[in-house]
Amino acid sequence: MKLRWLGVSATAAALMLSVNQASASSELDLAKKSGCMACHSIEKKVVGPAWNDIAARYKGDAGARDKLIAKVKKGGKGAWTDVTGGVPMPPYSPRVADADIEKLVDFILHL
Ligand code: HEC
Repeated sequence: MKLRWLGVSATAAALMLSVNQASASSELDLAKKSGCMACHSIEKKVVGPAWNDIAARYKGDAGARDKLIAKVKKGGKGAWTDVTGGVPMPPYSPRVADADIEKLVDFILHL
């Protein structure tokens, strides 16, 4: 009986894992489609800061989500001058739909 339960929860864990991976890769596709990856990569600075570094900087910052959504919509500079040398982040609204921008920011913040 115990073994059976173990089997069930292992299957559930495997399922959850594959769902997670599927959503991460669809968000990465969205980022590619939206043109983000021309200047960003997950692991290293390209023109803009690495998305891992963005996630690390705003970890635990309750206001970060709104702030970053606004920044991706309207563009801006000054937050990463030490990394980028002052290159601005271009505005993405309305080129990218608001719902997609929110999805991308959630993806970045949960890296
Ligand atoms: C032309 C290059 C370029 C493209 C394309 C680009 N970015 Fe950026 N991004 C930057 C730069 C440069 C910065 C640093 C801005 C700063 O110093 O405030 C940045 C910063 C950011 C930040 C952090 C902002 C902050 O205030 O900390 C986020 C989040 C972000 N980009 C997301 C995106 C998303 C999502 C896309 C695609 C929709 C995208 N970027 C496309 C260049 C780019």
